[in-house]
Amino acid sequence: MHGHSTFEPKNGFVKWLEARLPILSFSHESFVAYPTPKNLNYWWTFGAILSFMLVAQIVTGVVLAMHYTAESTMAFDAVEKIMRDVNWGWMLRYAHSNGASMFFFAVYIHMFRGIYYGSYKAPREVLWILGVIIFLLMMATGFMGYVLPWGQMSFWGATVITNLFSAIPFVGDQITVWLWGGYSVGNPTLNRFYALHYLLPFVIAAVVGLHVWALHVVGQGNPDGVEIKDIKKDSVPFTPHATMKDAFGIAVFLLIFAWLIFFVPNYLGDADNYIPANPMKTPAHIVPEWYFLPFYAILRSIPNKLAGVIAMFAAIALLAFLPWLDTSKVRSGKYRPLFKIFFWIFAATSIGLGYLGAMPPEGGYVLAARILGVMYFAFFLVILPVLGLVEKTKPVPATIADAVLAKH
Ligand code: HEM
Repeated sequence: MHGHSTFEPKNGFVKWLEARLPILSFSHESFVAYPTPKNLNYWWTFGAILSFMLVAQIVTGVVLAMHYTAESTMAFDAVEKIMRDVNWGWMLRYAHSNGASMFFFAVYIHMFRGIYYGSYKAPREVLWILGVIIFLLMMATGFMGYVLPWGQMSFWGATVITNLFSAIPFVGDQITVWLWGGYSVGNPTLNRFYALHYLLPFVIAAVVGLHVWALHVVGQGNPDGVEIKDIKKDSVPFTPHATMKDAFGIAVFLLIFAWLIFFVPNYLGDADNYIPANPMKTPAHIVPEWYFLPFYAILRSIPNKLAGVIAMFAAIALLAFLPWLDTSKVRSGKYRPLFKIFFWIFAATSIGLGYLGAMPPEGGYVLAARILGVMYFAFFLVILPVLGLVEKTKPVPATIADAVLAKH
């Protein structure tokens, strides 16, 4: 979906550049004239918020890297030096660590938006799958970043998660030793995690490029789930309409982010990570960052290690199949009364799993995690396919212009 490019080179230099590299007309088409559905709500600002956060994480991360040392006897002290001695170092670090949380918060909203409004349905399957790949890359990046301060939770979190690979039949132990670069998590592990933690955000940026490319080929979806039919009646130019709305969304998001950094910078962290890594002393409760908790709960709810690992990865991989698991002809949840109910049950299930992931794996907590785990999978494998067949949907407006009129 491209806007009619009204871009006309005004001066000689622009004309010269356009004839050689039409980057200005391309940007104009993509971010100025680009037709944006008239009916977008604020849930559609999270793509821009995520783009902003990706840049913010790279900028704060690169400056942190200038003061960090990836060596196991020095890493913890290097981070303390950043907190105490480096000018504005405390702010950089709190911005980066809380930035990771805000990034995941935004991506979860972006994904739930996609599920609620059926954004993954044809022709946006590839766009969605690229999103799932970004999500996986984000998880890998977040996990490896958390190891870098080399505190107790860094070390033991890395130990627990890398040990999962030992569940692979026959070659699991060899793979784990290979990943560690030794016989336990140690200096070689820290070094390679640092290298990858620096690399992956740029891979994410490249995949985001594909994500936005795919978006611009098929056009943006919208809350009513009908495509743009008449560019004049159904859409507005991206600038100033979406640009301003996105800027406002980012500003509000930054207020919450600033509150975290300046008032409760350690609220989402774990006190144990202010104790230097000690391979001789295992913490009583090894808890990952909040954004991993639902998957951690699924992992721990199954007593067999291999089965737990498979279930955890399946919980993420299933997302990629959503475009085919959801068989409903109606795209947006707005016109699907039954789906709406199950969507909120699914959202509550995910939050419930997150809570259980933070609790000790014993007694009632394990039982509850098993029940919620089954509900999580049932949403994808039973509810969505069946709803598509039996649900009575509400009438969908024929055009975006009609949907906007009906609202006012
Ligand atoms: C770094 C992470 C990400 C960035 C920067 C990003 C960026 C964007 C942007 C700018 C848009 C257009 C505006 C909007 O709809 O909000 C968008 C749309 C979309 N994104 Fe993402 N995204 C990211 C991650 C994801 C993930 C993890 C998923 C799903 C698993 C996903 C799925 C989608 C879908 C389906 C759309 C189209 C929505 C529609 O037009 O109805 N994205 N993304």
